[in-house]
Amino acid sequence: MNINKNYQNIAESYLFSTIAKKVNEFAQNNTDKKIIRLGIGDVTLPLCKTVVEAIKAAADEMGIKETFRGYGPEQGYDFLKTKIQQYYLSHNVVLDLDEIFISDGAKSDLGNILDLFDFDNTVLVPDPVYPVYVDTNTMAGRKIIYANANADNNFLPLPDTTIKADIIYLCSPNNPTGAVYNKDQLKAWIDYANNNNAIILFDSAYECFITDETLPRSIFEIDGAKTCAIEFCSLSKTAGFTGTRCGYTVVPKDLEFENVNINKMWLRRQTTKFNGVPYIIQRGAEAVFTKEGQKEIQENLNYYKENAKIISDVLKKHNIWHIGGKQSPYIWLKCPNNMTSWEFFDYLLENVQIVGTPGSGFGKNGEGYFRLTSFGSRENTQEAAERLDKLLN
Ligand code: MLT
Repeated sequence: MNINKNYQNIAESYLFSTIAKKVNEFAQNNTDKKIIRLGIGDVTLPLCKTVVEAIKAAADEMGIKETFRGYGPEQGYDFLKTKIQQYYLSHNVVLDLDEIFISDGAKSDLGNILDLFDFDNTVLVPDPVYPVYVDTNTMAGRKIIYANANADNNFLPLPDTTIKADIIYLCSPNNPTGAVYNKDQLKAWIDYANNNNAIILFDSAYECFITDETLPRSIFEIDGAKTCAIEFCSLSKTAGFTGTRCGYTVVPKDLEFENVNINKMWLRRQTTKFNGVPYIIQRGAEAVFTKEGQKEIQENLNYYKENAKIISDVLKKHNIWHIGGKQSPYIWLKCPNNMTSWEFFDYLLENVQIVGTPGSGFGKNGEGYFRLTSFGSRENTQEAAERLDKLLN
Protein backbone atom coordinates (compact mmCIF):
# COMPACT_ATOMS: atom_id res chain seq x y z
CA MET A 1 0.00 0.00 0.00
CA ASN A 2 1.41 3.37 -1.01
CA ILE A 3 0.08 6.61 0.39
CA ASN A 4 -0.66 9.73 -1.61
CA LYS A 5 2.74 11.42 -1.32
CA ASN A 6 1.29 14.75 -2.41
CA TYR A 7 0.09 15.22 1.16
CA GLN A 8 3.74 15.71 2.07
CA ASN A 9 3.70 18.88 -0.02
CA ILE A 10 1.06 20.68 2.04
CA ALA A 11 1.56 22.40 5.39
CA GLU A 12 1.23 20.01 8.32
CA SER A 13 -2.01 21.61 9.44
CA TYR A 14 -4.70 23.76 7.83
CA LEU A 15 -4.13 27.51 8.41
CA PHE A 16 -7.10 27.99 10.73
CA SER A 17 -6.23 24.87 12.74
CA THR A 18 -2.69 26.21 13.26
CA ILE A 19 -4.08 29.50 14.51
CA ALA A 20 -6.62 27.80 16.79
CA LYS A 21 -3.83 25.70 18.32
CA LYS A 22 -1.66 28.76 18.95
CA VAL A 23 -4.54 30.70 20.49
CA ASN A 24 -5.59 27.78 22.69
CA GLU A 25 -2.05 27.50 24.04
CA PHE A 26 -2.02 31.22 24.81
CA ALA A 27 -5.44 30.93 26.51
CA GLN A 28 -4.25 28.07 28.72
CA ASN A 29 -1.28 30.11 29.93
CA ASN A 30 -3.27 33.33 30.35
CA THR A 31 -6.54 32.30 31.96
CA ASP A 32 -7.09 35.82 33.37
CA LYS A 33 -7.15 37.44 29.91
CA LYS A 34 -10.18 37.81 27.65
CA ILE A 35 -9.32 36.87 24.08
CA ILE A 36 -11.28 38.48 21.24
CA ARG A 37 -11.38 36.25 18.18
CA LEU A 38 -11.54 38.08 14.86
CA GLY A 39 -9.57 35.42 13.00
CA ILE A 40 -11.55 32.68 11.27
CA GLY A 41 -14.60 33.97 9.43
CA ASP A 42 -17.12 32.27 11.66
CA VAL A 43 -20.42 33.98 12.35
CA THR A 44 -21.64 34.81 15.87
CA LEU A 45 -25.29 35.79 15.35
CA PRO A 46 -27.77 32.91 15.68
CA LEU A 47 -29.90 31.55 12.85
CA CYS A 48 -32.79 33.87 12.14
CA LYS A 49 -36.27 33.13 13.51
CA THR A 50 -37.86 32.10 10.21
CA VAL A 51 -35.09 29.58 9.57
CA VAL A 52 -35.34 28.07 13.04
CA GLU A 53 -39.11 27.68 12.69
CA ALA A 54 -38.70 25.96 9.32
CA ILE A 55 -36.10 23.57 10.75
CA LYS A 56 -38.36 22.73 13.70
CA ALA A 57 -41.35 22.12 11.44
CA ALA A 58 -39.22 19.88 9.20
CA ALA A 59 -37.96 17.96 12.24
CA ASP A 60 -41.57 17.35 13.27
CA GLU A 61 -42.39 16.08 9.77
CA MET A 62 -39.53 13.59 10.07
CA GLY A 63 -41.14 12.15 13.21
CA ILE A 64 -44.45 11.39 11.50
CA LYS A 65 -44.93 8.33 9.31
CA GLU A 66 -46.85 10.18 6.57
CA THR A 67 -44.33 13.00 6.18
CA PHE A 68 -41.11 11.17 7.01
CA ARG A 69 -38.49 11.21 4.23
CA GLY A 70 -35.57 8.89 3.60
CA TYR A 71 -32.99 9.45 0.86
CA GLY A 72 -33.60 12.68 -0.97
CA PRO A 73 -32.39 13.63 -4.45
CA GLU A 74 -28.56 13.84 -4.28
CA GLN A 75 -28.64 17.18 -6.06
CA GLY A 76 -31.18 18.69 -3.65
CA TYR A 77 -34.95 19.10 -3.34
CA ASP A 78 -36.76 21.13 -5.97
CA PHE A 79 -38.41 23.33 -3.30
CA LEU A 80 -34.97 24.74 -2.41
CA LYS A 81 -33.59 24.79 -5.94
CA THR A 82 -36.65 26.76 -7.07
CA LYS A 83 -35.97 29.41 -4.43
CA ILE A 84 -32.33 29.67 -5.51
CA GLN A 85 -33.42 29.89 -9.13
CA GLN A 86 -35.67 32.84 -8.22
CA TYR A 87 -32.87 34.46 -6.24
CA TYR A 88 -30.62 34.34 -9.32
CA LEU A 89 -33.43 35.68 -11.46
CA SER A 90 -33.67 38.70 -9.15
CA HIS A 91 -30.10 39.43 -10.35
CA ASN A 92 -31.08 38.80 -13.97
CA VAL A 93 -29.47 35.38 -14.16
CA VAL A 94 -31.64 32.69 -15.72
CA LEU A 95 -30.84 29.16 -14.55
CA ASP A 96 -32.48 25.80 -15.16
CA LEU A 97 -33.29 23.84 -12.02
CA ASP A 98 -30.91 21.07 -13.02
CA GLU A 99 -28.04 23.55 -13.18
CA ILE A 100 -28.34 24.00 -9.40
CA PHE A 101 -26.84 21.42 -7.04
CA ILE A 102 -27.42 21.72 -3.29
CA SER A 103 -24.26 21.12 -1.29
CA ASP A 104 -23.12 21.11 2.31
CA GLY A 105 -21.13 24.30 1.68
CA ALA A 106 -18.78 25.93 -0.78
CA LYS A 107 -15.58 24.50 0.71
CA SER A 108 -16.62 20.87 0.18
CA ASP A 109 -17.64 21.33 -3.44
CA LEU A 110 -14.62 23.50 -4.28
CA GLY A 111 -12.58 20.43 -3.39
CA ASN A 112 -15.00 17.81 -4.75
CA ILE A 113 -15.26 19.40 -8.19
CA LEU A 114 -11.64 18.47 -8.83
CA ASP A 115 -12.78 14.86 -9.35
CA LEU A 116 -13.83 16.00 -12.83
CA PHE A 117 -10.47 17.29 -13.99
CA ASP A 118 -7.25 15.66 -15.09
CA PHE A 119 -4.24 15.77 -12.79
CA ASP A 120 -2.14 17.28 -15.60
CA ASN A 121 -4.06 20.54 -15.63
CA THR A 122 -2.29 23.72 -14.59
CA VAL A 123 -4.13 25.57 -11.87
CA LEU A 124 -4.03 29.35 -11.58
CA VAL A 125 -4.82 30.93 -8.23
CA PRO A 126 -4.45 34.51 -7.10
CA ASP A 127 -1.93 35.14 -4.35
CA PRO A 128 -3.06 35.79 -1.58
CA VAL A 129 -5.82 33.20 -1.69
CA TYR A 130 -8.20 31.07 0.38
CA PRO A 131 -5.90 28.12 1.23
CA VAL A 132 -8.44 25.46 0.26
CA TYR A 133 -7.85 26.03 -3.49
CA VAL A 134 -4.12 25.48 -3.11
CA ASP A 135 -4.25 22.62 -0.62
CA THR A 136 -6.86 20.57 -2.52
CA ASN A 137 -4.91 20.80 -5.77
CA THR A 138 -1.60 20.09 -4.07
CA MET A 139 -3.19 16.97 -2.56
CA ALA A 140 -3.95 15.87 -6.12
CA GLY A 141 -0.46 16.72 -7.35
CA ARG A 142 -1.52 19.44 -9.79
CA LYS A 143 0.84 22.19 -10.85
CA ILE A 144 -0.15 25.53 -9.36
CA ILE A 145 0.79 28.93 -10.72
CA TYR A 146 -0.03 32.27 -9.14
CA ALA A 147 -1.52 35.57 -10.27
CA ASN A 148 -0.04 38.33 -8.16
CA ALA A 149 -2.58 40.31 -6.18
CA ASN A 150 -1.05 43.35 -4.55
CA ALA A 151 -1.65 46.98 -3.62
CA ASP A 152 -0.73 48.03 -7.19
CA ASN A 153 -3.67 46.16 -8.70
CA ASN A 154 -5.96 46.72 -5.69
CA PHE A 155 -5.61 43.00 -4.96
CA LEU A 156 -7.59 42.23 -8.13
CA PRO A 157 -5.25 40.54 -10.60
CA LEU A 158 -6.32 40.32 -14.24
CA PRO A 159 -5.43 37.57 -16.72
CA ASP A 160 -2.02 37.50 -18.34
CA THR A 161 -2.63 36.25 -21.87
CA THR A 162 0.96 35.02 -22.18
CA ILE A 163 0.34 32.43 -19.45
CA LYS A 164 -1.56 29.20 -20.09
CA ALA A 165 -3.81 28.06 -17.26
CA ASP A 166 -6.48 25.34 -17.34
CA ILE A 167 -8.30 25.74 -14.04
CA ILE A 168 -8.70 29.24 -12.59
CA TYR A 169 -9.96 30.10 -9.13
CA LEU A 170 -11.59 33.45 -8.51
CA CYS A 171 -13.26 34.62 -5.31
CA SER A 172 -15.23 37.85 -5.29
CA PRO A 173 -15.86 39.49 -2.84
CA ASN A 174 -12.46 38.15 -2.07
CA ASN A 175 -11.33 36.08 0.83
CA PRO A 176 -8.96 37.25 2.32
CA THR A 177 -8.74 40.80 0.93
CA GLY A 178 -12.38 41.87 0.63
CA ALA A 179 -11.65 43.25 -2.88
CA VAL A 180 -14.48 42.89 -5.42
CA TYR A 181 -14.18 42.47 -9.19
CA ASN A 182 -16.34 44.74 -11.32
CA LYS A 183 -18.14 43.45 -14.42
CA ASP A 184 -15.41 44.50 -16.88
CA GLN A 185 -12.72 42.80 -14.84
CA LEU A 186 -14.70 39.57 -14.62
CA LYS A 187 -15.38 39.80 -18.35
CA ALA A 188 -11.61 39.85 -18.94
CA TRP A 189 -11.29 36.57 -17.03
CA ILE A 190 -14.25 35.06 -18.89
CA ASP A 191 -12.75 36.01 -22.25
CA TYR A 192 -9.41 34.55 -21.20
CA ALA A 193 -11.07 31.28 -20.12
CA ASN A 194 -13.17 30.95 -23.28
CA ASN A 195 -10.17 31.70 -25.50
CA ASN A 196 -7.86 29.31 -23.67
CA ASN A 197 -10.17 26.34 -23.11
CA ALA A 198 -9.92 27.00 -19.37
CA ILE A 199 -12.50 26.69 -16.62
CA ILE A 200 -13.18 29.28 -13.91
CA LEU A 201 -14.16 28.04 -10.46
CA PHE A 202 -15.91 31.08 -9.05
CA ASP A 203 -16.35 31.27 -5.30
CA SER A 204 -19.20 33.66 -4.51
CA ALA A 205 -19.56 32.75 -0.83
CA TYR A 206 -19.51 36.42 0.17
CA GLU A 207 -21.88 37.77 -2.53
CA CYS A 208 -24.49 38.73 0.09
CA PHE A 209 -22.19 41.50 1.34
CA ILE A 210 -22.38 43.37 -1.96
CA THR A 211 -24.55 46.47 -1.71
CA ASP A 212 -23.09 48.36 -4.68
CA GLU A 213 -25.59 47.47 -7.41
CA THR A 214 -22.98 47.93 -10.14
CA LEU A 215 -20.87 45.06 -8.82
CA PRO A 216 -21.65 41.50 -9.92
CA ARG A 217 -22.89 39.04 -7.28
CA SER A 218 -22.64 36.13 -9.66
CA ILE A 219 -20.22 35.43 -12.51
CA PHE A 220 -23.26 34.46 -14.57
CA GLU A 221 -24.32 38.11 -14.68
CA ILE A 222 -21.61 38.46 -17.33
CA ASP A 223 -21.89 37.27 -20.93
CA GLY A 224 -19.89 34.22 -21.83
CA ALA A 225 -19.66 32.80 -18.29
CA LYS A 226 -21.94 29.85 -18.93
CA THR A 227 -19.42 28.28 -21.30
CA CYS A 228 -16.48 28.55 -18.92
CA ALA A 229 -17.51 28.85 -15.27
CA ILE A 230 -18.87 26.98 -12.29
CA GLU A 231 -20.10 28.98 -9.30
CA PHE A 232 -19.92 27.93 -5.65
CA CYS A 233 -21.97 29.64 -3.00
CA SER A 234 -22.91 28.95 0.55
CA LEU A 235 -25.36 30.06 3.20
CA SER A 236 -22.59 30.02 5.82
CA LYS A 237 -21.94 33.73 5.76
CA THR A 238 -25.25 34.70 4.13
CA ALA A 239 -27.45 33.24 6.83
CA GLY A 240 -25.18 31.99 9.60
CA PHE A 241 -25.05 28.38 8.36
CA THR A 242 -21.38 27.72 9.27
CA GLY A 243 -22.52 25.02 11.70
CA THR A 244 -25.73 24.12 9.89
CA ARG A 245 -24.11 23.43 6.49
CA CYS A 246 -25.86 24.21 3.24
CA GLY A 247 -24.70 25.76 0.00
CA TYR A 248 -25.16 25.43 -3.73
CA THR A 249 -23.08 24.89 -6.82
CA VAL A 250 -24.19 26.11 -10.23
CA VAL A 251 -22.95 24.04 -13.16
CA PRO A 252 -24.28 25.39 -16.46
CA LYS A 253 -25.51 22.92 -19.04
CA ASP A 254 -23.56 24.82 -21.72
CA LEU A 255 -20.27 23.87 -20.09
CA GLU A 256 -18.47 21.38 -22.33
CA PHE A 257 -14.86 20.28 -22.55
CA GLU A 258 -13.57 17.62 -24.95
CA ASN A 259 -17.21 17.20 -26.08
CA VAL A 260 -18.20 16.08 -22.60
CA ASN A 261 -20.96 17.84 -20.72
CA ILE A 262 -19.66 18.98 -17.32
CA ASN A 263 -23.14 19.28 -15.80
CA LYS A 264 -23.80 15.59 -16.58
CA MET A 265 -20.38 14.62 -15.25
CA TRP A 266 -21.04 16.47 -11.99
CA LEU A 267 -24.47 14.84 -11.62
CA ARG A 268 -22.81 11.45 -12.12
CA ARG A 269 -20.19 12.30 -9.52
CA GLN A 270 -22.73 13.56 -6.99
CA THR A 271 -25.16 10.67 -7.36
CA THR A 272 -22.26 8.29 -6.73
CA LYS A 273 -20.41 10.02 -3.91
CA PHE A 274 -23.01 12.19 -2.15
CA ASN A 275 -26.38 11.48 -0.57
CA GLY A 276 -27.53 15.06 -0.35
CA VAL A 277 -28.00 17.62 2.39
CA PRO A 278 -30.49 16.60 5.14
CA TYR A 279 -34.13 17.42 4.39
CA ILE A 280 -34.42 19.36 7.65
CA ILE A 281 -31.52 21.62 6.70
CA GLN A 282 -32.81 22.16 3.17
CA ARG A 283 -36.12 23.36 4.65
CA GLY A 284 -34.13 25.80 6.81
CA ALA A 285 -32.25 26.95 3.72
CA GLU A 286 -35.51 27.39 1.83
CA ALA A 287 -36.69 29.74 4.60
CA VAL A 288 -33.64 31.96 4.00
CA PHE A 289 -35.07 32.84 0.59
CA THR A 290 -38.55 33.78 1.81
CA LYS A 291 -39.48 37.45 2.20
CA GLU A 292 -39.23 37.28 5.99
CA GLY A 293 -36.01 35.25 5.81
CA GLN A 294 -34.39 37.81 3.50
CA LYS A 295 -35.42 40.64 5.81
CA GLU A 296 -34.04 38.89 8.87
CA ILE A 297 -30.72 37.89 7.30
CA GLN A 298 -30.32 41.44 6.01
CA GLU A 299 -30.51 42.72 9.58
CA ASN A 300 -27.69 40.35 10.51
CA LEU A 301 -25.62 41.37 7.49
CA ASN A 302 -26.08 45.04 8.41
CA TYR A 303 -24.90 44.24 11.92
CA TYR A 304 -21.68 42.71 10.56
CA LYS A 305 -21.24 45.66 8.20
CA GLU A 306 -21.48 48.03 11.14
CA ASN A 307 -18.80 45.95 12.90
CA ALA A 308 -16.59 46.34 9.83
CA LYS A 309 -17.06 50.10 10.02
CA ILE A 310 -16.04 50.15 13.68
CA ILE A 311 -12.80 48.33 12.82
CA SER A 312 -12.17 50.41 9.73
CA ASP A 313 -12.69 53.68 11.64
CA VAL A 314 -10.03 52.88 14.19
CA LEU A 315 -7.58 51.87 11.45
CA LYS A 316 -8.32 55.11 9.59
CA LYS A 317 -7.74 57.10 12.75
CA HIS A 318 -4.24 55.63 12.95
CA ASN A 319 -3.55 55.90 9.21
CA ILE A 320 -3.31 52.16 8.75
CA TRP A 321 -3.71 51.21 5.11
CA HIS A 322 -6.60 48.80 4.62
CA ILE A 323 -9.20 47.66 2.12
CA GLY A 324 -12.37 45.55 2.34
CA GLY A 325 -15.07 45.74 4.98
CA LYS A 326 -17.55 47.53 2.70
CA GLN A 327 -18.74 44.86 0.26
CA SER A 328 -17.17 42.14 2.38
CA PRO A 329 -16.90 40.95 5.99
CA TYR A 330 -13.09 40.99 5.79
CA ILE A 331 -10.74 43.88 6.44
CA TRP A 332 -7.29 43.52 4.94
CA LEU A 333 -4.69 45.79 6.50
CA LYS A 334 -1.01 46.55 6.19
CA CYS A 335 0.82 45.59 9.38
CA PRO A 336 2.18 48.71 11.09
CA ASN A 337 5.92 49.38 11.40
CA ASN A 338 6.75 46.87 8.65
CA MET A 339 6.00 43.95 10.94
CA THR A 340 5.61 40.57 9.29
CA SER A 341 2.16 39.03 9.40
CA TRP A 342 3.06 36.54 12.14
CA GLU A 343 4.92 39.22 14.14
CA PHE A 344 1.78 41.33 14.11
CA PHE A 345 -0.32 38.28 15.02
CA ASP A 346 1.85 37.65 18.10
CA TYR A 347 2.00 41.36 18.94
CA LEU A 348 -1.80 41.65 18.96
CA LEU A 349 -2.33 38.40 20.84
CA GLU A 350 0.23 39.16 23.52
CA ASN A 351 -0.59 42.84 24.05
CA VAL A 352 -4.32 43.19 23.45
CA GLN A 353 -5.49 39.57 23.07
CA ILE A 354 -7.00 40.13 19.65
CA VAL A 355 -6.83 37.22 17.22
CA GLY A 356 -6.65 37.92 13.50
CA THR A 357 -5.34 35.95 10.54
CA PRO A 358 -1.79 36.52 9.31
CA GLY A 359 -1.84 37.56 5.65
CA SER A 360 1.14 35.32 4.86
CA GLY A 361 -1.08 32.32 5.64
CA PHE A 362 -2.89 33.13 2.39
CA GLY A 363 0.25 33.26 0.23
CA LYS A 364 3.55 35.06 -0.20
CA ASN A 365 1.92 38.31 -1.33
CA GLY A 366 0.02 38.32 1.95
CA GLU A 367 3.26 38.80 3.89
CA GLY A 368 3.14 42.05 5.82
CA TYR A 369 -0.67 42.07 5.76
CA PHE A 370 -3.30 40.95 8.24
CA ARG A 371 -6.99 40.01 8.06
CA LEU A 372 -9.66 40.92 10.61
CA THR A 373 -13.25 39.77 10.37
CA SER A 374 -16.42 41.65 11.15
CA PHE A 375 -18.20 38.48 12.29
CA GLY A 376 -17.59 39.08 16.00
CA SER A 377 -20.25 40.24 18.43
CA ARG A 378 -20.82 44.01 18.60
CA GLU A 379 -19.57 44.09 22.16
CA ASN A 380 -16.33 42.27 21.29
CA THR A 381 -15.79 44.28 18.12
CA GLN A 382 -16.17 47.54 20.03
CA GLU A 383 -13.85 46.31 22.73
CA ALA A 384 -11.31 45.19 20.13
CA ALA A 385 -11.47 48.63 18.48
CA GLU A 386 -10.85 50.32 21.84
CA ARG A 387 -7.93 48.02 22.60
CA LEU A 388 -6.49 48.64 19.13
CA ASP A 389 -6.93 52.38 19.54
CA LYS A 390 -4.93 52.38 22.77
CA LEU A 391 -2.25 50.08 21.40
CA LEU A 392 -1.76 52.06 18.21
CA ASN A 393 -1.51 55.31 20.16
C1 MLT B 1 -12.20 32.02 6.56
O1 MLT B 1 -12.03 32.47 7.69
O2 MLT B 1 -11.44 32.26 5.62
C2 MLT B 1 -13.41 31.20 6.33
O3 MLT B 1 -14.09 30.95 7.51
C3 MLT B 1 -13.06 29.96 5.71
C4 MLT B 1 -14.24 29.18 5.29
O4 MLT B 1 -15.32 29.71 5.02
O5 MLT B 1 -14.06 27.97 5.17
